[in-house]
Amino acid sequence: MYKMSMMPMFTAEAIHECVEAMAGQIRRNYEFDVVVGILTGSFIFVSDLCRYFPRQDLQIKFIKASSYCDEMRPGELEVSGLDLKELAGKRVLLIDDILDTGRTLKCLSEKIRAAGAAAVKTCALLDKPSRREVEFQADFTGFKIEDKFVVGYGLDYAGEYRTFPDIWSLEEE
Ligand code: IMP
Ligand code: MG
Repeated sequence: MYKMSMMPMFTAEAIHECVEAMAGQIRRNYEFDVVVGILTGSFIFVSDLCRYFPRQDLQIKFIKASSYCDEMRPGELEVSGLDLKELAGKRVLLIDDILDTGRTLKCLSEKIRAAGAAAVKTCALLDKPSRREVEFQADFTGFKIEDKFVVGYGLDYAGEYRTFPDIWSLEEE
């Protein structure tokens, strides 16, 4: 069994300051046509972040990605909910909640490039560098954290905890 830590790891206020700073950094460094959020964990981060880009022509899309359960193709991702051909010729900002082994963002950014996107840059609010299993760095990251399982602000454990405004780590009881 797991329980939430005594104190949040990041309060809603700290998260919002971080999101605002990330938005500034993205705006200064990348011109993009479409935001692609990876469901479900990134839905709150995407909705907060994209309000710092108030542009009439900015497109918002979401994609579902799950690790392929096939021993013959370790690390393969199964994607659904978005036809990647829609991204052909577009400059894409690909967003996840957290960068862990690195497989999701690496694999998905490669698939989007292969589908003909004009450019792809990646963004994650949280980064656990010590957990990396493939070589990958996101272009824009918020908080670096140690190897802890975190929930809240969209992130879940078995589908729960997503709507907590702060980010908490889970500890074994
Ligand atoms: P990666 O492919 O291992 O980098 O995995 C990234 C995905 O794993 C994220 O989109 C999350 O859905 C999930 N994940 C990894 N670490 C955590 C965590 O600490 N809390 C909640 N979800 C996590
Ligand atoms: Mg995820």
